Amino acid sequence: MSRQLIAGNWKMNGRLAEARALADSLAAAPVARGDTVEIAVCPPFTAIHPVAERLGGDRAVALGGQDCHAAPGGAHTGDISAAMLADLGCRYVILGHSERRQEHGETSADVAGKAGAALDAGLVPIICVGETQAERDAGRALEVLHAQLEASLPEAGAAGIVLAYEPVWAIGTGRAATPDDIRSAHGALRADLAARLGNGGRSVRILYGGSVKPDNAAGILGLDDVDGALVGGASLDSESFLAIARAAAG
Ligand code: PGA
Repeated sequence: MSRQLIAGNWKMNGRLAEARALADSLAAAPVARGDTVEIAVCPPFTAIHPVAERLGGDRAVALGGQDCHAAPGGAHTGDISAAMLADLGCRYVILGHSERRQEHGETSADVAGKAGAALDAGLVPIICVGETQAERDAGRALEVLHAQLEASLPEAGAAGIVLAYEPVWAIGTGRAATPDDIRSAHGALRADLAARLGNGGRSVRILYGGSVKPDNAAGILGLDDVDGALVGGASLDSESFLAIARAAAG
């Protein structure tokens, strides 16, 4: 199994001074040099280059974007292509985050198109899926995850992606999913991956995201079928983010 991935999703946070300061403290941290865990940060587009400069050329902290367009270029005002992210040294791009699905009406078909563009540009798409509270209450959580995954995968399939289970009700609420919820969601997603890829679906990492903090990280990251975390709020503070990375390094 590959290393656990701890990815920080800075969302629309991090003006230049803050972004540079955060990058400096991550670059200086010993855990960032370890080989048991992979650390990535996904700053807003405007901060990717300044953060890349601070992390340095042989950077131990990988970089990602928070979205990209499905087209390689052209008349798409305000958008960013996957190749532009690759130019900046990004390895990852988060796609289909529930905030994009909700605030920008992104569909799973949109996500699939973007994921294909990301793979074409040599990026690893981190494809997010997750049920709402209403869907969970209706007993439909696993059905929703299955449908979102199937419809969000690029034409090339599931090879080369990272998957993130992000229950919408757990994002930014301080209320992480319980170990039982995480086990059942990740188990179901793993079974879907296994059906597509064979080998138990182990070649794709499945991250958990939603109120991951230093005090719950070890419990979550120690669960079967959890291969890392997508961290929002706690990734904006280097101490908390590094504490989560240390929990993954175990
Ligand atoms: P949170 O966000 O850690 O602040 O809950 C996670 C995410 O949205 O990726």
